[in-house]
Amino acid sequence: MQPYKGSRDFYPEDKRIFDWIFSQIRSVAQSHGFEEYDGPLLEPFELYEAKSGSELVNDQLYWFVDRGDRKVAIRPEMTPTLARMVAGRLQELAKPIRWISVPNVWRYERPQKGRLREHWQANIDILGGTGPLADVEILNVLLGIFEKFGAQSSVSIRINNRKLMDFFFNEVLHAETEQKAPLARLIDAKAKLKPEIFEEGLKKLGLDDEKIKSIYRFFDSDLESVQKNYDCDGARELAHLFSVLQKSKSQSGPLPFVFDPSLMRGLDYYTATVFEAFDTSGENPRALCGGGRYDNLIGLFSNQKLSGVGFGLGDVTLRDFLESHKKIPLLAKVPEIFVGLHRDEDYALCEKIAGELRSFGHKVVTPLNVDGFGTQIKEALKCGAQFVVLLGETEIKQGQVLVKDLARNIQEVVEIGDLKNFFSK
Ligand code: HAM
Repeated sequence: MQPYKGSRDFYPEDKRIFDWIFSQIRSVAQSHGFEEYDGPLLEPFELYEAKSGSELVNDQLYWFVDRGDRKVAIRPEMTPTLARMVAGRLQELAKPIRWISVPNVWRYERPQKGRLREHWQANIDILGGTGPLADVEILNVLLGIFEKFGAQSSVSIRINNRKLMDFFFNEVLHAETEQKAPLARLIDAKAKLKPEIFEEGLKKLGLDDEKIKSIYRFFDSDLESVQKNYDCDGARELAHLFSVLQKSKSQSGPLPFVFDPSLMRGLDYYTATVFEAFDTSGENPRALCGGGRYDNLIGLFSNQKLSGVGFGLGDVTLRDFLESHKKIPLLAKVPEIFVGLHRDEDYALCEKIAGELRSFGHKVVTPLNVDGFGTQIKEALKCGAQFVVLLGETEIKQGQVLVKDLARNIQEVVEIGDLKNFFSK
């Protein structure tokens, strides 16, 4: 009776929270003009092979050979599908493209807190926005989401730039080509490693003490010293991004954006800005979201270029985070009103009242058994209804019903014709 390891069953109480979380995210994205798209769960294996990074492809990808001998992957992320879909209609689509999707994605991982094998991920991306304002807009949508949850003060959004990392690898470390990818992976994993294991990893890659010292010096840099000591496009882009971010949002309290020179991101397609969001309380150490700018992803399918920037925000870490900070409200169960049925001959009236209330937008349940009032009230309580409408013999004769407010434990006789007004109040 257990679901497949690392996947989840969503019983209604979980699905209610899940739907609420993504409805909040969708509403923020829509308020910024983003439109929803979707794509298939299965994609050709090669879609990920080129740019998704070796860890994702070699260790985490679920794939199989189909009956037509094609190598097929279950999507581990949405960005390559997005790039494929945009490339397919590159000429027709009005740019910039602002799109959101909420796919489930699969990764073969060791299930643990914040990491499962199946998760849902809000993907919010802009394509065709080449200037730094697209990065700013994406980061402000992300901030807007945390504000919508009332949790902006509990989050830190760490930002770095891949061009700065390239400059550091090439011009400071003079890293050999074959050292770069494993070094990037080691830096990406740094937060999860003990300091001595990280240092051992650097040594194993053939970096001498001098180079290791320069890595620590680099990680200790603030934005100002990076600009002074590492003169490159990446440092300049970061300085510009932070200066616009500071001005772009006026809100009480400090902004959650911080520069983090040790932020790498595991996916290969990022080319400039990269960012991740973290819970500042330390209770949930895994990244809540990750994203960045990818300039060449469309190039897998087309000779044309179209720059993109966006992020993925996963449901597992986000729910843990919102629960830790008590930001998930008590969500009402679906039925609001239970219209009780005491005698067979009242069935038509019961259905008529229920139907009318439904047509006014209420969620109404009727019983499947004819029973005494006491039993019906118990059933109404069990299914989570807030009100029960009782068709008492005496009341019906006078065109009335008895309405019980179960939460406040009060009752009132209401004219049948007046039920709409009663419930709208
Ligand atoms: P990612 O960093 O691999 O980026 O994943 C984004 C987010 O998905 C993570 O920060 C985390 O919340 C969630 N996540 C990832 N793996 C797991 C897992 N095994 N279990 C639970 N949650 C997980 C991407 O996937 C990029 N495609 C995002 C992107 C969109 N970049 C640009 N646009």
